[in-house]
Amino acid sequence: MRTPSRDDKNDTLLPPLAGDEIAALAAAIDRCGVGVLKAAVPRPLLERSRRYVDHELKQHGGQYFGLAGREWIEESPLAAVAHSNAIEAILKGLYRHATGEAPDLRPAAPSLRVLAGSVGLRHSYLFHYDSYVVTALVPLMIPSAPYELPGDLVLFPNLRRVRRNAIVNIIEKVMVESPLACRIWKSHWAQRRFGAQVVKMEPGNIYFFWGMRSLHANQPCLPRSIRSTALFHFGDPHAGTFLKRLSARRHQARLRRLGQMANASQAE
Ligand SMILES: [Fe+2]
Repeated sequence: MRTPSRDDKNDTLLPPLAGDEIAALAAAIDRCGVGVLKAAVPRPLLERSRRYVDHELKQHGGQYFGLAGREWIEESPLAAVAHSNAIEAILKGLYRHATGEAPDLRPAAPSLRVLAGSVGLRHSYLFHYDSYVVTALVPLMIPSAPYELPGDLVLFPNLRRVRRNAIVNIIEKVMVESPLACRIWKSHWAQRRFGAQVVKMEPGNIYFFWGMRSLHANQPCLPRSIRSTALFHFGDPHAGTFLKRLSARRHQARLRRLGQMANASQAE
């Protein structure tokens, strides 16, 4: 995968990828569970995004928080990612590859997750399928000091197909996302048996995976650490349906049980 040019005038993030480069990214996701676009986020944008996270974290008392929806991102440096023509083309290309259908006209749903403090500790090993076909994960702050835990991404790659039937989708989600099921997915036995991948994330890279097909969660971080990721979810086959609203309410209840009363950040 080529390194983006800072001189590109059409996009503040990176130049558009060619069709065969997007196909190679899709093939990597099919094969390994994750496709990586290396050195895609310029250092100055990363620094501005980290300052934004630091500021927001102070507003949230130094504890876990999540932001979702369109408003927050327009006020944050990460708007550069949301408005990137290159990222939009990649998400659409991947969606087309995964479904064989024309891509969704709706833009990607952006969210921000910040794991910090004792509440952040509870937001680990919450295995789930996303409601969206394609997930782009942009690591902003990953603990890397000695004796810290990085909160690696744990992914069971491509366990199921894209679910077009909303009822099948929600039944499967209820089954595999329960607290009991999460304890099983967390075990070494299940991770070996079902071929889990542990992905070490490096800020600057962008990680793509089939969020609807791959069961995933993050490992824990220490309460004193800060782990921050931006997520861009694309292509929800069940958008606007009654079952989708039901699923969203179930997700909100799950967050409330964890003591997180603010906005949702994990694409349920
Ligand atoms: Fe997710």
